[in-house]
Amino acid sequence: MLYKTPHAAWNRVSQPGGHAALFVGDCSKLLSAIPDSSISLVITSPPYCMGKEYEPSNRIEDFAEAHELLLAEVARVLKPGGSACWQVGYHVQRNRVTPLDFLVYDVAQKFAPELVLRNRIMWHFGHGQHCDRRFSGRHETILWFSKGSEYTFNLDAVRVPQKYPGKRASRGPRQGEYSGNPLGKNPSDVWDIPNVKSNHVEKTDHPCQFPVALARRLVAALSCADDVVLDPFSGSGSAGVAALLEGRRFLGAELLPDYAAIARARLSDTVAGRARFRPDVEVEPPRQNSAVARRPEHFWQNQSVEIAKQGA
Ligand SMILES: C[S@@+](CC[C@H](N)C(=O)[O-])C[C@H]1O[C@@H](n2cnc3c(N)ncnc32)[C@H](O)[C@@H]1O
Repeated sequence: MLYKTPHAAWNRVSQPGGHAALFVGDCSKLLSAIPDSSISLVITSPPYCMGKEYEPSNRIEDFAEAHELLLAEVARVLKPGGSACWQVGYHVQRNRVTPLDFLVYDVAQKFAPELVLRNRIMWHFGHGQHCDRRFSGRHETILWFSKGSEYTFNLDAVRVPQKYPGKRASRGPRQGEYSGNPLGKNPSDVWDIPNVKSNHVEKTDHPCQFPVALARRLVAALSCADDVVLDPFSGSGSAGVAALLEGRRFLGAELLPDYAAIARARLSDTVAGRARFRPDVEVEPPRQNSAVARRPEHFWQNQSVEIAKQGA
């Protein structure tokens, strides 16, 4: 499943039944080994250039520059009608915040004009760093581009339950009949999916995994059975787990051998039917009687009576 040469990885996954192949090395080498118009879906989260262990730079300019060739290559390897999903957050330095999706969009317009933006999905999550000089960040985004104007979109595969499924049409020819789709409603472009922090069932030693549920929605909606899904920055292999769970093939690249080893273990577990993942179900409100949900006594003492009443 792990390959040291990009051609070997591509050859493996391009054969029927080639479940998953991960190239251990620079994704630009893997992209060069992939023929034109051969990938159905790209799902990825690139390094944000924030000076993490796996990032050679913390300069926002380097993020934009690296994307010029990267997005052009992604557009080249995508099949017409295929999609590319770019999951990014914010570049933060000395409390100065730059939205990375603005840069990705701008670079795509110039260097990969055949990629057409279909949605800017807001991924909302509940946990993260607490800020004291700005509002704490609790969302990132996914830019979904399609290559060309005809593209795969399997809405029925990703419908979610309606809030009021018993609602009926109040007028028109269907007056009195149930108005909702029995398969559920369109999940919209705001997704509430828990991020992978320490207690999450998917947590590995990788510092910034995205959840399998997020990638799985994209795989189910934007590709078909046995298609090849590519993640050029595979990390712990979350997009690969999602692809295999949905019966697609997976091709990835990961620069660091330790992360590639984590991805390989997760992909093997998925093939063997023992992947650990959080199902894509609605986020439950906290249980009010649990110890961590209870307000400690001194929180009350430090608040004015008015604020305390509001919080009660
Ligand atoms: C934001 S993480 C992706 C995490 C992944 N989505 C997951 O759920 O685990 C980016 C990953 O890209 C890897 N990486 C950085 N530069 C790379 C390159 N040039 N080629 C391949 N992988 C690279 C990093 O080591 C890191 O694991």
